[in-house]
Amino acid sequence: MPLRSANLNVMIRAAREASVKLKRDYGEVDQLQVSKKGPADFVTAADIRTEKILRGELAKARPDYGFLMEEAGAVEGADQDRRWIIDPIDGTTNFVHGIAHFAMSIALQEHGKITAGIVFNPITEELFTAEAGNGAYLNDRRLRVSSRVGLDNSVFATGIPFMGRGDDQDHQRFLSEMAAVMGASAGIRRFGSAALDLAFVAAGRYDGFWESGLMPWDIAAGIILVREAGGLVTDIDGRDMRLEAGTILASNPTLHQPLGDTLRKARK
Ligand code: IPD
Ligand code: CA
Repeated sequence: MPLRSANLNVMIRAAREASVKLKRDYGEVDQLQVSKKGPADFVTAADIRTEKILRGELAKARPDYGFLMEEAGAVEGADQDRRWIIDPIDGTTNFVHGIAHFAMSIALQEHGKITAGIVFNPITEELFTAEAGNGAYLNDRRLRVSSRVGLDNSVFATGIPFMGRGDDQDHQRFLSEMAAVMGASAGIRRFGSAALDLAFVAAGRYDGFWESGLMPWDIAAGIILVREAGGLVTDIDGRDMRLEAGTILASNPTLHQPLGDTLRKARK
């Protein structure tokens, strides 16, 4: 059993609480009101409801902390140094299409640093947790990134941009990246949830992950999962990861440089 801080337990309790309604909503996905924020960016009643429950539970336990949320945006707390970063459903398109690959993502940011993160798929009941200095876990099992060496043995995850996400130039750049990585690797996957992509890198299922155009709530929890599992996370240019960087490159330590070099060459 992993050692869990009080804050991590608060995050887990909130996610479990929110998952009850979310699972019910998923079962009734056809009847949900679906509005369109952008051409391929569905916002469901379930997103908003889940975020409200998470926010309510977290605020009950830690009334002073602030928030950064996908739906409601930033809310300052009395404690200016601590905030929760929430994505209520990462993988909304999967959710809406009845594909059981989506997750809640909650991170705790303290003094600008991510100190804890959880990614929870309520359908598979896979709970990924990490705290700074304490390791990463899948349920009760300690996680370690893969030990594969060589791009040719490795499977990578990515996110494919879509209508309304990036312009023509971004789409062309992505196609060049794909061409380069598919010619050099054992395969590429696009499962549709950046939070779970990062959790799967932490679990050693994927050897690495890259994507552009992501927001802080998509990646905040996943970043600490990968790092605590022994992986490296930077932006695609290899610079220190900032939540607002817009690009991300995460992998086991051996593959970070070769995957990064391949992507950077393709992006020129
Ligand atoms: C999306 C997912 C997806 C990624 C998109 C994100 P959402 O988040 O993480 O994998 O490719 O860029 O926007 O909209 O489902 O919360
Ligand atoms: Ca997201």
